[in-house]
Amino acid sequence: MRSTSAPPELVGAPAIRRTLAEALRSAESHLTASGVASPRVDAELLAAHLLRTERVGLWQYLQQPVPTGFDDLVARRAERIPLQHLTGVSYFRTTELAVGPGVFSPRPETEVVAGHAIDVLRGMMRESGDDTTATLRVVDLCAGSGAIAAAITVEVPGLDVHAVERDPAAGPWLLHNARAHGFAAHLADVDGCLPELTGRVDVVVANPPYIPEGSIPRDPEVSRFDPPAALYSGPDGLEHMRIIERAAARLLRPGGHVVVEHGDLQGRLAPEVFSATDEWSDVRDNVDLAGRDRFVSARRSSV
Ligand SMILES: C[S@@+](CC[C@H](N)C(=O)[O-])C[C@H]1O[C@@H](n2cnc3c(N)ncnc32)[C@H](O)[C@@H]1O
Repeated sequence: MRSTSAPPELVGAPAIRRTLAEALRSAESHLTASGVASPRVDAELLAAHLLRTERVGLWQYLQQPVPTGFDDLVARRAERIPLQHLTGVSYFRTTELAVGPGVFSPRPETEVVAGHAIDVLRGMMRESGDDTTATLRVVDLCAGSGAIAAAITVEVPGLDVHAVERDPAAGPWLLHNARAHGFAAHLADVDGCLPELTGRVDVVVANPPYIPEGSIPRDPEVSRFDPPAALYSGPDGLEHMRIIERAAARLLRPGGHVVVEHGDLQGRLAPEVFSATDEWSDVRDNVDLAGRDRFVSARRSSV
């Protein structure tokens, strides 16, 4: 008869657990095989999340047992659930944002767009010199989690910053981040939003939806987890560019600035939305850190 008890050499032996270093190596190959773009970084960020430490501090734990829950998180990341949904955090410039199901995960290319708006605002502050009565006002349209509004609020203290988002599913994330970072959140459609600020805004900034309807994003993290309302914008992908142009023309004071992100193939057509009317001057297109066409900037005409 076969014995069901443990082999004698294992009785009383301590449980053998993999070290974090070993677990990271197998996680990296698992995520690579699943098509994840940055497998090692993602594995490290999941471990850092469980250990409540920064990624750079992981070296202290490499020879420790792998933290409980690591394999489960890696398996879910291998199913292409976005890293940000697993950790609940998105890092954007100098800020940490709460994100998860129902809201668009902020992208690195948008950091350059926010950076341009920040540079414009700092230039305006230098120009206003000692005039402390003039609080500059900013509106982030199509705000999602409020990433752009949060970065501007943190990096240029003393502004009056507003974020506008229509999708009720994104609302709780936006409200949470607005409270955490200190900007005003408005659940509203861009079209007709903030009538009380008409002609009183210094900078309008936006990362609207801009994928042409019918195009399918390649990455499952995008096609399965970003809300469709955050992605698609009419047959040419520029429907929201037109909506933002009209809203910015209404909200901005004469001489105010608009900054709007677009797709890397829209570097000619997106600026044309602005140059087609005499409401704007200094219309130009700008590139991201990879040198790809990325955002339009323009100034509200003074007359
Ligand atoms: C590409 S996401 C960008 C979110 C955020 N600005 C960022 O960069 O992370 C676009 C957002 O615009 C919102 N949106 C789309 N149409 C809108 C409209 N007409 N009014 C207000 N928000 C809108 C979507 O719900 C989505 O959250």
